[in-house]
Amino acid sequence: MLESAAPRRRSPESLIHQILEQQSSLSRPDRALLLELVQGVLRWQLRLDYVISQVSRLPLKKLHPLVLNLLRLTTYQLLFLERIPAPAAVNEAIRLAKRRHLPPALIAFLNATLRRLAEIGRGIPLPEPSADPVLALAVATSHPPWLAARWLTRLGEAGAGQRCQANNRIPPLTIRVNTTKISPSRLQRVLAQEGVDAQPCRFSPLGLTIQALKQPPMSLESYNQGLWLFQDEAAQLVTYLIQVEPGQRVLEIAAGRGGKSSQLASLLGSKGNLTVLDLSHWRLVELRRLLARMGLIEPRALVVDATRPLPIRASPGFERILIDVPCSGLGTIRRHPELRWWRSEADFPRYAARQLTMLRQAAPFLRPGGLLLYITCSTEPEENEDVVEAFLTAEPQFRLHHDPTALPEAARHLLEPSGYFRSLPERDDLDGFFAAALIRKF
Ligand SMILES: C[S@@+](CC[C@H](N)C(=O)[O-])C[C@H]1O[C@@H](n2cnc3c(N)ncnc32)[C@H](O)[C@@H]1O
Repeated sequence: MLESAAPRRRSPESLIHQILEQQSSLSRPDRALLLELVQGVLRWQLRLDYVISQVSRLPLKKLHPLVLNLLRLTTYQLLFLERIPAPAAVNEAIRLAKRRHLPPALIAFLNATLRRLAEIGRGIPLPEPSADPVLALAVATSHPPWLAARWLTRLGEAGAGQRCQANNRIPPLTIRVNTTKISPSRLQRVLAQEGVDAQPCRFSPLGLTIQALKQPPMSLESYNQGLWLFQDEAAQLVTYLIQVEPGQRVLEIAAGRGGKSSQLASLLGSKGNLTVLDLSHWRLVELRRLLARMGLIEPRALVVDATRPLPIRASPGFERILIDVPCSGLGTIRRHPELRWWRSEADFPRYAARQLTMLRQAAPFLRPGGLLLYITCSTEPEENEDVVEAFLTAEPQFRLHHDPTALPEAARHLLEPSGYFRSLPERDDLDGFFAAALIRKF
């Protein structure tokens, strides 16, 4: 769940969800194809545009938006999908253009460009790294040039290439088991009875990887009974770092729809005290619904702008505070391919300022000896170590807490000697998360 510094946009995920709800008669293969086409075009947009631009008589900027999107949609099928014959893909685009009443001249242009793309599209050479390394990486892996340049500078040619390629791989579908109700191994058997093949995750003892979900989750009894929820493995792992114990007083800021709150609540058990804050009312409604479905404690939920003084009592204070700040989300590009086009370099100072403010607003509410866990799903230093370092300079009563034993054994290598937690898509096949546990000394 991500917040943009730019005006809010509907995520493609939620638009697809809405369309699938409206088109309930679509067959399962058609639903899967719709998802594949939308995600594929979003993922490969720059590479598709480059190939189209090598064939199009007109610059892409001058094209009617519907023509450009039909070109992208069809070129994706021609270049990346084996199962749709080229003539079928081209004819479908022309049929759609006619149904949307495009003028005959535009349809003729579309037809000619697509036929040429079907003929030579796969053979069009991409830019050479020796001529322009940034453009070559950007086009080959379909990332915006500013991001390709940033990673080339920071990670070198091999590292940037691996990062961009990992961002284009389809991520595993992972779930977190509600261990207050069932053990992972029993849930595995329950899911098998429901026709779902699930295997233990590599790092998180709470996680299972689902091979393929052929039905909507709501049709599974195990889901409706609150035995599990969708969550990336890295998101499961970072929550371990807060070391919540049963019965503690815990505050979660930017709790969203409750992915991490539900993990906190299950650690707290029935006697814990959980307060959750978020700017979004509807996310907190979903959070409450999730915790109720999972049979967990009811949190105190407040709609709050956490960049401002928090409207809660500072005394007696919390033993644990978790802040999962709004960030660029650039660690989750493999799940949200559109983010690479939505973000820009100018976002970082705005995000960092907001993240530091949220941390500082939270600081007085932590008891001495307590732990404050700062989390982002970003790979970028401006939102990660730079924010933590600025916080530690401004608030000398805090220091970084380095305790690898807080993590499950298989995940301890993700805590660096510096004390920072970092997961990387290219190295770990996890979403890119960053976390820092901060202890209040006095
Ligand atoms: C990364 S998401 C949280 C994800 C959530 N913790 C989870 O695990 O599912 C960031 C959240 O910050 C919230 N947010 C953004 N700006 C905020 C602000 N100024 N005050 C409080 N919450 C804010 C968003 O509504 C969003 O839910």
